[in-house]
Amino acid sequence: MKRSVVLIFTVIIFATAGSAATATFNKDIAPILYQHCAICHRPGEVAPFSLLTYQDASKRASLIATVTERRYMPPWKPEPGYGRFADERRLTDAQIALIKEWATNGAPEGNPADKPELPAFADGWQGGKPDRIFTLPSRFALAADGPDQFRCFVMPLNLDHEAFVSAFEFRPDNRRIVHHALIFVDSTGAARQRAGSDGSYPCFGGAGVSGAGLIGGWAPGALPAPAVDDYSQPVPQGSDIIVQIHYHPSGKPESDQSSLGLIFSGPPKKGRTAATVIGGRINIPPGDAHYVVKGQVVLPRDVEVSFIAPHAHYLAKDMKITAHLPDGSTVPLIWIKDWDFNWQGRYRYEKPVELPKDTRIELEYVFDNSENNPRNPAHPPVRVRWGEQTADEMALAFLGVLLPTPQDARDFARQIALQNLEAFLYEGLNIDDLSSAIGGQQRARLQQALRLFDRNQNGILDAAERAALLKLLRGNN
Ligand code: HEC
Repeated sequence: MKRSVVLIFTVIIFATAGSAATATFNKDIAPILYQHCAICHRPGEVAPFSLLTYQDASKRASLIATVTERRYMPPWKPEPGYGRFADERRLTDAQIALIKEWATNGAPEGNPADKPELPAFADGWQGGKPDRIFTLPSRFALAADGPDQFRCFVMPLNLDHEAFVSAFEFRPDNRRIVHHALIFVDSTGAARQRAGSDGSYPCFGGAGVSGAGLIGGWAPGALPAPAVDDYSQPVPQGSDIIVQIHYHPSGKPESDQSSLGLIFSGPPKKGRTAATVIGGRINIPPGDAHYVVKGQVVLPRDVEVSFIAPHAHYLAKDMKITAHLPDGSTVPLIWIKDWDFNWQGRYRYEKPVELPKDTRIELEYVFDNSENNPRNPAHPPVRVRWGEQTADEMALAFLGVLLPTPQDARDFARQIALQNLEAFLYEGLNIDDLSSAIGGQQRARLQQALRLFDRNQNGILDAAERAALLKLLRGNN
């Protein structure tokens, strides 16, 4: 009898000890850090410290628990349930709980035999050797601290014929300071003109010249998209590439000379284009903590949407993009509840989203122009309108659209551009005030044209004047 009681106790003690085995670095935490954090938190990378060793991680255990619990890290902005994205960078609730438990228990190291291998990271070109490699025309020097710098570098392609790009890969040189990069094609020569003798100029939010087409981007942790010859992107003869880089000071003087690799192929067999959804009316009073901007496009045909990239500057806080189908149902495309300009991404869907003709894609962004918004660049807050500068705002989203043929893509792009233009030419528009989303020269020309339609010469586009203008625009297409 006595013996069996002892036995039962022993069993209970062992059982509870087994189930309450505390999480250790080697067994439980290292696998999470290696898979979800190491890509940025290793020596020479964008994050301010490495998280590869026990010493690195244990001294920051409670900070790690806090930032993962708040889902501040790993940086991943889309809300779950609003679009299914490839390469999702989210920890599970169970992983977050495990990290918290580990930190609360004093961050034990555990058995060295449990420790996984350090992850291997390829150093060279991740997507295979490019056909041509371009290096920034000059080495950019960044001070130890001070504001972030946004710089556009112009690289002549020197092509003697039209070419077709099937893939590109941006390769940051100094990963401690390159926070993100956008790649544009400029076939107007405007960027080349603007760049000084060092081949670069300051710019923010975009290419800084009108008419440049975005072909892609890079952010820490991003892998290059695989080459798809069927969807190659035409690059006209004489074009230049513009690489816009967002630099974030590291605390030491640094420099960077990043490079870009291009892979060429034959002409595209299928069509792809980017549909832009724009919330064109932005005029945010200082102090307004909840300013809503809406915009929409209606799909002129059935499409597949491959990715989505929402864009705004510092004041945006909530961004939601929803597809309203003609049958009355809705498809959520993305929702970002805590927009951070520093973590703007291009989110690829796990499977392209099929949307039928007449689907209305609606954008709804909320801006906070109050003193309480820590990201507000102005203190005290000032009135904010549409524009390309840090102190201006934007409300748009790029949707990657796949279509059966290249001609379909051209037709589609023209129809969407017309819808975007119509949205900008809203009733009651003040012609002198015309949005600076429309670049310098184009704006002057458009203002001139609008004055011709301003029959009563009051400087405002009235309903009847707007109707006459739209009739002409549609007729010409
Ligand atoms: C895509 C790159 C990237 C990934 C992935 C990433 N981090 Fe970070 N992390 C950063 C950068 C950049 C910073 C510094 C800037 C900032 O705080 O936003 C940072 C900052 C931190 C900080 C300091 C926060 C503070 O308030 O000082 C902690 C802690 C942290 N990361 C933990 C993690 C953990 C844990 C993971 C994985 C679960 C992770 N990070 C994944 C890039 C990344």
